[in-house]
Amino acid sequence: MDHGSDPDRRVTTRRISFEASLAALPRHFAADGDLVTSHVIAALSSVFPDGEDFFVRSVRHYRDRLDDPVLSRQVAGFIGQESMHGREHRALNARLAELGYPTLQGERLTRWGLALRSRLLPPISNLAATAALEHVTATLAELLLSDPEARRLCGHQGITDLFLWHALEESEHKAVAFDVYRAVGGGERLRILTMRLMTLAFVVGTALQVAASLLLDPATYRRGNLRASLRRFLASPFVQPAVRARLRAYNRRGFHPDDVDASALTARWRDELFGDGGTLRDLLVTASGRGEGT
Ligand SMILES: [Fe+2]
Ligand SMILES: [Fe+2]
Repeated sequence: MDHGSDPDRRVTTRRISFEASLAALPRHFAADGDLVTSHVIAALSSVFPDGEDFFVRSVRHYRDRLDDPVLSRQVAGFIGQESMHGREHRALNARLAELGYPTLQGERLTRWGLALRSRLLPPISNLAATAALEHVTATLAELLLSDPEARRLCGHQGITDLFLWHALEESEHKAVAFDVYRAVGGGERLRILTMRLMTLAFVVGTALQVAASLLLDPATYRRGNLRASLRRFLASPFVQPAVRARLRAYNRRGFHPDDVDASALTARWRDELFGDGGTLRDLLVTASGRGEGT
């Protein structure tokens, strides 16, 4: 099954800043001051900036080999979006570090691990890893965009807004790295094998970061707190079988990210966040940037 790159896909770079809305962030910002969810969100944020730098490097490596002008434009939008995500998550991580989260150590470890990976493995393997992790982020993103309970759990408005913006753009560009991988001749065996390894690395890496983060938080040692919070987290939409099934769909030969059509979902959130009267319009530095225009 060959989809090619979707000419209707819009990958817009939005220049935006959340810094003001995160200034008064409390330590346990997740809904109901939940311990584990706050640490999971902080752990995810700590791996994003350097992960996204790695995605950009992996895709940029092949940029000159693309002869489809539609895909080339989408790549420009992808690079713009991921660069902005990295910038805003670094700002959030600095704020979380002030609150006592080990987000800067998480950033450094991610940077080190991915630099090592880039040195040891060929570019096509790094691109396969990017396409795989983009499926992981798109899965989480579309869960957040479609499930009100997932959004509620984010808690603090600044965190919710930042993750909604990020989720919208992850869904908008979810097929770009994948289409580049296909366009430069990446094969199915490497794609699927890489996904298996990257899912494991992502789950283990995030779990270790969450564990280290929890160990440093005095609230973890309050009697019964950790156990009750863990129980709530395991009942949350993020760890339900549907998420695992969606992740595993990538391991099927012939899979394409657009097999799950999210165009109505992205259209809805584009409008809610950035349309006339959109809730995040005021945070935009400019309405259009380096990527594709609207
Ligand atoms: Fe991103
Ligand atoms: Fe992405």
